[in-house]
Amino acid sequence: MAFKHKDIIGLQDLTREEIELLLSTAENLKEINSRDIKKVPTLRGKTVVNLFYEASTRTRTSFEIAAKRLSADTINITASTSSVTKGETLSDTARNVLAMKPDIIVMRHSISGAHHYLAKRVSCSVINAGDGAHEHPSQGLLDMLTMRQKYGKLEGLKVAIVGDITHSRVARSDIFGLTKMGANVFLAGPPTMMPPGIERLGNVTVCKDMREAVDGADVVMMLRIQLERQGKTLLPTMKEYSRYFGLNRNLLQLAKKDAMVMHPGPINRGVELNSDVADSDQSHVLKQVENGVAVRMSMLYHVSGGELPTE
Ligand code: CP
Repeated sequence: MAFKHKDIIGLQDLTREEIELLLSTAENLKEINSRDIKKVPTLRGKTVVNLFYEASTRTRTSFEIAAKRLSADTINITASTSSVTKGETLSDTARNVLAMKPDIIVMRHSISGAHHYLAKRVSCSVINAGDGAHEHPSQGLLDMLTMRQKYGKLEGLKVAIVGDITHSRVARSDIFGLTKMGANVFLAGPPTMMPPGIERLGNVTVCKDMREAVDGADVVMMLRIQLERQGKTLLPTMKEYSRYFGLNRNLLQLAKKDAMVMHPGPINRGVELNSDVADSDQSHVLKQVENGVAVRMSMLYHVSGGELPTE
């Protein structure tokens, strides 16, 4: 099966078969990351521009490593050190970057929909590395890959997603991806951080409290509170949030034995996740980061046409 999209903006736009293809390619490419010489010529001669308007540790580094492992040339542009600080618009930045003939632009932007806007205006591929509170497709894919590695499937899994659902692009990509793949998603969070009608997205159940979501779960996905995206105070205190929506050892016992604990990072230790859980054997947080490289290699590979280079 060929991947037909020029861009990857969100998992909402992909079919189950396309998600399956991206995951199985990532599974195949993963092996490169354990070699002594971690490089293959697949994207030799291609140029990948990482255009980041928001801070990132994992996603930006991971896309850069992924591109380099496939032999692409990479250039990093961060808003804080670019002409964006002089007032340049996204459209003008894009036109100027495009004049240098990149093959793929990987972008993170604080505005939901910025990638749709960009993708319509450029001939190269655009990959969404996170747009506002909309989607974070590479995170959704790496989360699914990590779950599938443990359970061998996604169909039928009970996945609890807990926290600031309203402002979380990770939650939205996880929901689109997981429900397409047949998982059962249970959401919990403060009412002020739960979008009305979210259950209409698919096989999603909104729980009255966190215990209901975690009860019998195969996976407990904890989300970071997105204080930078909240226009006003949506919770009384962090202490109170942690009391009702933080994961600790006692609460985790409600989940299935050996259930996976996941978090996209960065973790607010002691708020959404206690350190004894974050650093426990049940935590798959660093496995998620490891899988991020393979998933992003797969995304770069498929938007490039998924073909090996000819001499
Ligand atoms: N998970 C994630 O997007 O992390 P970064 O913000 O560090 O990229």
